[in-house]
Amino acid sequence: MLIHLRVKLQENPTQTYCQFIRHVLPSLIMSTYLITGVAGFIGSHLVNRLVTMGHEVVGLDNFSSGFRENLISHPLFRFIEGDIRDLETCQAVCKGVDFILHQAALGSVPRSIEEPLLYHHNNVTGTLNLLLAARDAGVKRFVLASSSSVYGDTPILPKIETMPLQPKSPYAISKLACEHYGKLFNDIYELPTIGLRYFNVFGPRQNPDSQYAAVIPKFLKAFLSNESPTIFGDGEQTRDFTFIDNVIDANLKACVAPLSSCGASYNIGCGDRISLNQLVIEIQTLTGSTAKPIYADTRLGDVRDSLASIQLATECLNLAPQISLRDGLNQTSHWYRS
Ligand SMILES: NC(=O)c1ccc[n+]([C@@H]2O[C@H](COP(=O)([O-])OP(=O)(O)OC[C@H]3O[C@@H](n4cnc5c(N)ncnc54)[C@H](O)[C@@H]3O)[C@@H](O)[C@H]2O)c1
Repeated sequence: MLIHLRVKLQENPTQTYCQFIRHVLPSLIMSTYLITGVAGFIGSHLVNRLVTMGHEVVGLDNFSSGFRENLISHPLFRFIEGDIRDLETCQAVCKGVDFILHQAALGSVPRSIEEPLLYHHNNVTGTLNLLLAARDAGVKRFVLASSSSVYGDTPILPKIETMPLQPKSPYAISKLACEHYGKLFNDIYELPTIGLRYFNVFGPRQNPDSQYAAVIPKFLKAFLSNESPTIFGDGEQTRDFTFIDNVIDANLKACVAPLSSCGASYNIGCGDRISLNQLVIEIQTLTGSTAKPIYADTRLGDVRDSLASIQLATECLNLAPQISLRDGLNQTSHWYRS
């Protein structure tokens, strides 16, 4: 970025100065970040990146689905065990914080259908507590993890942010409610917020063992042990799988995006899709496994196809996915092997 700016400086000094102020300066100044859900898959990757960049990080988690082993020991990292459903906890952790990367949530669609009230309290009330605490603490930017599930099962692809939303599960509704609260706090309380609609994130450290685990860790674990994974449906459903590094980049870019980009939600995906049957072939090739998948009935709440339009995120967050599905699968399978 700095070399690119030096070349540009000769061509257009004013524009280059603005780019420097907006994109480079914030990353050079040490800031304090709060990561909720820090013991989870995405939160634990965020903390690694931020301390490497020299930022101070406060992490919050209640270990409802996260793991102590995901927490690092680092002089720039401080962990607080607590729950976002408790307003006082949220107020305590927001003190002195510049940026919030809010990842804490219960994440499974099928489980949300079994326990809708739990999902509402955990995901919606918890987020509202955190927004209130962030507003009162004068936080500079609040980035919240949303989900592609807010689009529901509409046949139109790719999913564009301006489309009507049709959430199909309590989990998807909880994410949409958080997006709305985020926008409201941006518009009426001047807390700059950005929602990130993640499309099927995968990478090292994602838990393959829960009954509600995501498909890539489940498939990798099964094929690495030459066992048969289960596919719900005929396997022709498609997904836009997004490697974890791209999601970390999106969170950091959202913190320095211009104020005009706030109060909105953006698709965070690769802009490409693959069917589960094709994914099986990719993973079989990667692992050398000869196991075959078992097919079971489609699950309630699952969407058929998913593909992100990433145009808005490119324009407003200056974002482009850096790691392809194949490279990401390679890195992830190395991690599961070791
Ligand atoms: N992984 C994906 O593919 C994906 C896709 C779309 C959206 N998301 C969203 O991204 C975020 C992070 O997902 P992840 O995959 O890292 O999930 P994860 O389950 O690994 O991490 C979530 C973390 O939040 C913590 N948590 C949950 N409720 C909490 C509470 N009330 N108080 C404090 N901590 C709490 C959990 O213990 C866990 O450590 C979630 O908001 C999820 O809905 C993830």
